[in-house]
Amino acid sequence: MRAHEQGRPSDLHSLVGRLPNDAFVMLDPAVEVLEPEIAEHRLLGHGYFEVGMVVPPGEGLLAFVTALGQQPVNLGTLRAQFDDQQIIDKMLASLRQHGFMHVTSPTKPSTEELARFRAIAEQRRRETLRRSLVIDLDAPISIDDLRVRLSAEVSAPEVRLRCARLVDHKRILAELACLRQAGAVRMHHTVVQTNDLSADRELCRSLIRLGASVHLEAVPWPAPDRPIPGLDEMTRNCVAVHVLMTPGLSILDDAVRHRALTWAGSVFISGLCLRLEPEALWPAGNAREDDFIDLFNAVRAIENEFGDVLIVNLPSDEVLLGNTASSSSPDRLSDFANSFRTSYMRWRLPVLKSCENDNSWSQIPEVEDKLVRAREDLLPNHPELLSLKPGSVVVDVCGGLGRVARRLSPVVGEEGLIISIEMFRCLSDRARRFACERNFMNLHFRPGLAQRIPLPDAMADAAVNEWTGGVWELGLGPAMVREMARVVRRGGRIAVTHRLVRLHLASLAQPWVQYEEIYRWMREAFVHPQLTIIAERVWGQIAPSLVGDNATFWRRQYMPRLVNPYDVTYKSDDSPGTQADVYLTLIAQRQ
Ligand SMILES: C[S@@+](CC[C@H](N)C(=O)[O-])C[C@H]1O[C@@H](n2cnc3c(N)ncnc32)[C@H](O)[C@@H]1O
Repeated sequence: MRAHEQGRPSDLHSLVGRLPNDAFVMLDPAVEVLEPEIAEHRLLGHGYFEVGMVVPPGEGLLAFVTALGQQPVNLGTLRAQFDDQQIIDKMLASLRQHGFMHVTSPTKPSTEELARFRAIAEQRRRETLRRSLVIDLDAPISIDDLRVRLSAEVSAPEVRLRCARLVDHKRILAELACLRQAGAVRMHHTVVQTNDLSADRELCRSLIRLGASVHLEAVPWPAPDRPIPGLDEMTRNCVAVHVLMTPGLSILDDAVRHRALTWAGSVFISGLCLRLEPEALWPAGNAREDDFIDLFNAVRAIENEFGDVLIVNLPSDEVLLGNTASSSSPDRLSDFANSFRTSYMRWRLPVLKSCENDNSWSQIPEVEDKLVRAREDLLPNHPELLSLKPGSVVVDVCGGLGRVARRLSPVVGEEGLIISIEMFRCLSDRARRFACERNFMNLHFRPGLAQRIPLPDAMADAAVNEWTGGVWELGLGPAMVREMARVVRRGGRIAVTHRLVRLHLASLAQPWVQYEEIYRWMREAFVHPQLTIIAERVWGQIAPSLVGDNATFWRRQYMPRLVNPYDVTYKSDDSPGTQADVYLTLIAQRQ
């Protein structure tokens, strides 16, 4: 082993520099190249750290990574086979940083050496990853203990507070909520795990101010046969409740899954947490990868219809995507349990990566905030259109990375709440992390579906949906509008904006740009016994170079033939290039 690889944690930063040509390197034996290829990217899975990593296309990078497998390779010899040394060095640094590759001696590392390499890599990973803290509230623990523990964290952790009964911890939860609101402690996500939901309004308020969701233990699969005490109070007060269930192999049965979905939808819980222990499911240990995959696909089928489903004893999406450290260690598991976890990683990582890829229009909230210029935002600039005021509760449907929620946050103030519902958990996780970094306290990000909003009737003052053409093209628009109307109280408003952003002139003639069709669908969806349309508006902006025939075309395409109580905003833009933005907004009041 090279001397610098044996270093103490404080020496670890010295590992980040360019590796010398005489170094020997090797992939961790737990690393594998996954199938399938996602948009020309290949994925690596690390079965020990339970994390994925992307190998970008081109430059022979996959061949380079594969050459590092099996046994130590001399870097000088390897580098000589590739042209672009900069890309190779970037890939090496990344592999090392995430523990996918170790610097070794020329001989294959023994089990003990491998354990040591992994410990060093873990130390390095921990410097960049968020941690997950589990705290037993019944222990007991004081608010000062909690504050000290949370303040010791470098980056805002995920916190799981466990207790038998919520009501026993009313005071500490209220105190913790106050500390969070005051910015004295930071949690990127808080889950309170309990066996008893009973709570009053005040306790629910503390949970909201904590940004917490509640996980209720031990609910019978596929549905309890009597009402759960306290559940109704929680959901009516906007608290996100997940229930923990332990399904048997009956989860493979469509009819049984349907029962679970019907019950979950009828009580407006936010999500299902499933415990799937391979040893309990297959006591004889006779299952293979295909059986595991059938099980995961059954979970996916629930997720597709319900929105938020987690397998609690497997690595979370945040762990797999390399945002949070895994709290389990494969060393302590049986071979059978390990192969179950590895199969899950192989199955889930491509699903996650293709979800991200579907949303490649913008992956980073900072970029999104620049891409979508603030002055173009109708509702944040005109909250009176939704009758919003401090204290209002707003549901942001198809919330993505939280752009609309962040913009509306100051309007509803610290007494208000914006619940952003987004179908991809990886996006709502990212939105939540970003909101935590920027100290937004009144935003909740929840995975969920527009056509099945996991909230009870009439609990919100307004519901908004922006920039989700896909919902209309998939025929889900009417169900979304019905759901938005359902969750808003009488007198509350709903707004849907279809937006086509930064259209290149060349695309103006393309069928997907023709908004008339979507407008017709939107108009039809708003024909609803409890909705009265109060505003319709086409607005947008064009580049100054959009003149002559193009401008005439643009006007013909997009100028309103609509009832339009507001001025049409039709202004020029200073940015170079010939692009146009078009927005179409419908606002209705619930009767
Ligand atoms: C273009 S983004 C807009 C995000 C955000 N509303 C904004 O204006 O910045 C559309 C988002 O809608 C989400 N989405 C699409 N269909 C959905 C559905 N049926 N339920 C929930 N979210 C959905 C997508 O995953 C994506 O994040």
